[in-house]
Amino acid sequence: MINPEEFLEFVKNRRSIRVYQDKQIPDNEIQMILEAGRWSPSASNKQPWEFFIIKDKEMLKEISKNAIFGRHIKRAPLAIAIVGKKATSPNYYIQDTSLVSMTMMLMAWTLSIGTCWTGALDRKKVKELLGLDENDYLLTVLPMGYIKGNIPKPSLRATLDQITKEI
Ligand SMILES: Cc1cc2nc3c(=O)[nH]c(=O)nc-3n(C[C@H](O)[C@H](O)[C@H](O)COP(=O)(O)O)c2cc1C
Repeated sequence: MINPEEFLEFVKNRRSIRVYQDKQIPDNEIQMILEAGRWSPSASNKQPWEFFIIKDKEMLKEISKNAIFGRHIKRAPLAIAIVGKKATSPNYYIQDTSLVSMTMMLMAWTLSIGTCWTGALDRKKVKELLGLDENDYLLTVLPMGYIKGNIPKPSLRATLDQITKEI
């Protein structure tokens, strides 16, 4: 088992990374990130997801154009699009794929690979670019790359007192 204190520190130290080194991520590391995603929990173990590994520079550029706060995507050597399969798990595809995204981000961080959740996406356009079906839900595109420069300072978090209630 992982040391709990170390794990907590690890979780606290992860940051969203938007500046990447111009260096390819080797396949074995990509595989580890995908594998971590694959082992995420899902409701009734339905695993309602598909992952798209995007390395094509033109595609990254096009996706970037359709992400209002995702201009950095075009500078990443890789992005993984996480797609929820609505038909497989109509009630939980968002929860399940969200868990995948966190697992992948944490796995990437162990490899000094920075990621950033892309929320502000023109999903319709990016779905077209990726050739997704109407029933596919594009949860996010996670750009990935080795961290360049300093790791950003943590943004503020509410204190536990502010967000917890004991009953
Ligand atoms: C649902 C969601 C949507 C997000 N959308 C974007 C986005 O479109 N662009 C971006 O640069 N960061 C995006 N982020 C990253 C957040 O800004 C970031 O997680 C938050 O500021 C906390 O910083 P940290 O991840 O470094 O701790 C998103 C994060 C989440 C969870």
